[in-house]
Amino acid sequence: MNSADAVNPGDAVPLLDVRDLRVSFGSRGHFGRGGVLRAVNDVSLQIAAGETLGLVGESGSGKSTTGNAILKLVPIESGSISVEGQDIANVRGKALRHLRGRMQMVFQDPYSSLDPSATVGSSIAEPLRVHQRMSGRKSAERVAELLELVGLPPRATRAVTPTSSPAASASASRSRGHWR
Ligand SMILES: Nc1ncnc2c1ncn2[C@@H]1O[C@H](COP(=O)(O)OP(=O)(O)O)[C@@H](O)[C@H]1O
Ligand SMILES: [Mg+2]
Repeated sequence: MNSADAVNPGDAVPLLDVRDLRVSFGSRGHFGRGGVLRAVNDVSLQIAAGETLGLVGESGSGKSTTGNAILKLVPIESGSISVEGQDIANVRGKALRHLRGRMQMVFQDPYSSLDPSATVGSSIAEPLRVHQRMSGRKSAERVAELLELVGLPPRATRAVTPTSSPAASASASRSRGHWR
C-alpha cells in the first residue's frame, strides 16, 4: 500500500499522479561555461477528480515549470506523470491533442497570454473550435451565451483585448463601464 492509497481509499486511480518529477534547463552561464539549472526537484503530487490542489512557492521555485511539464510543454528529466492512470511519456500525436483538450493552463497575466490582435469573441471561440470541434455557428452561440453569463453585452464579442501598455489598459478598464 502506498501513500496515495491511504489518501484516497475509494479512488483507485487519481486524475493526476506526478511522481518524483525533475525538470532541468541547460544554461550558458558566463564566459561560455555551461551549467544546468534544476527547476523542479523530486516533486510528487496526486489530484483526485473534483479535488483542487494549491502549489505555493516563491518566484522561480518551479511552479510554472511543474505545470508546463504536466502539459508536456517542457521535457522532463526523470520521474513520471500519469493522467487517469496513463503515463503521458509516450502519448503523442492525436492522443496528445485529445489530452491537451482536457488539460489547460490558465495564465495569471492576461496581457501576455491574450492575443492583442484577436477579438474577445475569437479568443473564446478558438478553444471551442480546436478542442471541442464546434462549428462556427455553434461556437458563436456558445460565445454569446458565455458573455451573457458574465454580464457582458453581445457587442463585447467584437472588442479587441487591451494591449499591455498601462495607458491602454487603464482606458480599457474605464471603458468597461460603457458595456453595462
Ligand atoms: N524555458 C526555460 N529555460 C530556462 N530556464 C527556465 C525556463 N523556464 C523556467 N526556467 C527557470 O526555472 C526556474 C523555475 O521557474 P518557474 O517554473 O517559472 O518558477 P515559478 O513559476 O515558481 O515562479 C527559474 O529559475 C526559471 O528562471
Ligand atoms: Mg510561475
